[in-house]
Amino acid sequence: MVTVLNHPLITHKLTYMRMEETGHKDFRENLDEIASLMAYEVCRDLPMKDITIKTPMAECVTQVLDTEVILVPILRAGMGLVNGILDLVPTAKVGFIGLYRDEETLEPHEYFAKFPKELEDSVVLVLDPMLATGGSAIAAVNMVKKRGAKNIRMVCLVGAPEGVAAFEKAHPDVDLYLAALDDHLNDIGYIVPGLGDAGDRIYGTK
Ligand code: PRP
Ligand code: URA
Repeated sequence: MVTVLNHPLITHKLTYMRMEETGHKDFRENLDEIASLMAYEVCRDLPMKDITIKTPMAECVTQVLDTEVILVPILRAGMGLVNGILDLVPTAKVGFIGLYRDEETLEPHEYFAKFPKELEDSVVLVLDPMLATGGSAIAAVNMVKKRGAKNIRMVCLVGAPEGVAAFEKAHPDVDLYLAALDDHLNDIGYIVPGLGDAGDRIYGTK
């Protein structure tokens, strides 16, 4: 299932991220805020369990989360989504996947992987702002599946139709969340209109 979160607050902040004159400080701040807003939707159906508590007025049955949440950012740009989600889910654990996309072949290359132990029994949110060809997201989900993860959600900011189609074909069992679905990929694999190179814009490296 693909969900595009066409929400006015998200679209407004994303518009400022897209502008080429936006610097890394404002880019990061908007990304943080969008990540929190997306977390609210992505976590809408997390498993809950009943517990009995006592308020100052009475005993009552209410609910708390019945799952661990593990965030798995794809380095580097996925790190930009972590803090905003942790603001809403402060108990989440964090794993890391290092992937870079070869600029010629557009194929993803793995350079790092480190995960909390509980992947199998947790809701795993794989994070990356950009879903271009889909190669990185597909490879990252393969990596967490190989280590036992079963309840996986892919959270991206901007997707290209080509990447969405490839991801759905590779992982039809994984829900994909996007803040925006853009028009197309250009001939060097960048999303159009997109926002440019997310990692470089977050970290000011170009
Ligand atoms: C970017 C982006 C994704 C990937 C998307 O990362 O953050 O991980 O490209 O492209 P794809 O869908 O075609 O795989 P990049 O490889 O530039 O690394 P970075 O985050 O370190 O800048
Ligand atoms: N990676 C990015 O950061 N931006 C794109 O448009 C495509 C891949």
